[in-house]
Amino acid sequence: MANANNQRDGFSSSFGVFAATLGSAVGLGNIWRFPYEVGNSGGAGFLLVYILATLFVGLPLMIAEISIGRTANTDPIGVYKKLAPRSLWWIIGAFGLVSVLLIISFYSDVIGWVFAYIAKSVRGHLLTQDKAVLEGSFTQLITNPSSSLAWQWGVLLLVGIILSFGVSKGIEAVTKKLMPVLFLLLCVVAATSLSMPGAMEGVKFLFVPDMAKIDRSVILTALGLAFFKLSLGVGSITIYGSYFRRDQNIPKTAFTIMLADLAVSLLAGLAIFPAVFALGFSPDKGPALLFQTIPAVFFKMPMGHALMVVFFVLTAMAAIGALLSLVEVPISVMHERLNLSRISATWVSIVFLILFGSLSALSFSTLGHITLIQGKNIFDSFDFVSSKVLMPTAGLLTSLFVGLRWGKAAFIRANSNEGSLNNASLLNIIFWVLAVITPILIAIIMYFGLVSK
Ligand code: TRP
Repeated sequence: MANANNQRDGFSSSFGVFAATLGSAVGLGNIWRFPYEVGNSGGAGFLLVYILATLFVGLPLMIAEISIGRTANTDPIGVYKKLAPRSLWWIIGAFGLVSVLLIISFYSDVIGWVFAYIAKSVRGHLLTQDKAVLEGSFTQLITNPSSSLAWQWGVLLLVGIILSFGVSKGIEAVTKKLMPVLFLLLCVVAATSLSMPGAMEGVKFLFVPDMAKIDRSVILTALGLAFFKLSLGVGSITIYGSYFRRDQNIPKTAFTIMLADLAVSLLAGLAIFPAVFALGFSPDKGPALLFQTIPAVFFKMPMGHALMVVFFVLTAMAAIGALLSLVEVPISVMHERLNLSRISATWVSIVFLILFGSLSALSFSTLGHITLIQGKNIFDSFDFVSSKVLMPTAGLLTSLFVGLRWGKAAFIRANSNEGSLNNASLLNIIFWVLAVITPILIAIIMYFGLVSK
């Protein structure tokens, strides 16, 4: 959808839009983060809260961001300047820019770990169920400053190269073919994990809630994950919305993406938790969980060696697809606000991100003594501030923007494709959820999670 006025590149087909937006949602959030947060927060109770947060906060905000992006058709700061001139709503975009930098810093580090695991699994180093070997291998990787940096820089350079080819060619080509294969492989891994003796404990952990384990910090974590999963509150989805075709059904697309994304997360949970319990590993290992447990499942699988390589390759590709949507934020702001060419904006961003990202990569070694927030190292602090403070705040402001400034009529016009979709009554409900329930929920959860003791 090239736009005659300003030559913005766009997606060439409606399936391309869907695939790329799904590509932004599905990534390390499903395969790495979802399982470890479920594990840290006590299992099914967290899952339940997460699903509620996705339905009442994530989904309405996703619809809002896509429609704001498509209507204003510019970068995430520009959209608010365009829809609400001479006001301060553009601060939402500025918040997003800050969170994006924090997220890319640790996200690219973790993708670096995944690449390192591709190399390890090719060499067959991980084919074992020996807990000590698996734990040692992971610790050795993240505490080695030069290899952490090398992998992370490699990832960011690769993203720079992909983006230099432009939106439709670069992003679409990478993400289109990937999802079905990843999905199938996850099914196979889950089946293997489920076939281990004692696997049912893991299924219970994932699906039978223990309400006693739900507290305020669990609820805030679930809210943060809902934002992180659907790429909300930073501008990624606003930009992808600006590439949406005028005839695309936004609420339907957002709903489908949410469901598909949830399915991938649940499959990742089913790949990991049955094995964790069957093998006597602990579910609350935090960010190490995926890396220290998944190799033990492949060890049990026919053709496990080859399939483990494929698994880490697909995970890396899904993660790169998601990272593209993050890096798109600073690039589009520089390109459209500062009038830099796309290529310069891309490489200025990449160089800056390599420098800023190194802070996360070094926070388990050289910079390990530095703590920023509540005794957390740099990596964890960036994660905390982005997921639990900045993204929810931006989400709160976005819902208020739609409710108070953009207004119901404009919201319905945008999401019904100027009335041609005949979905006004559904949109009426979504509008009221977005304008009233979403901001109240975010405000309450943030207040009890961060402020009140
Ligand atoms: N949603 C992606 C994942 O789960 C990560 C991601 C991409 C993201 N773009 C984002 C997270 C924007 C927050 C904001 O892996």
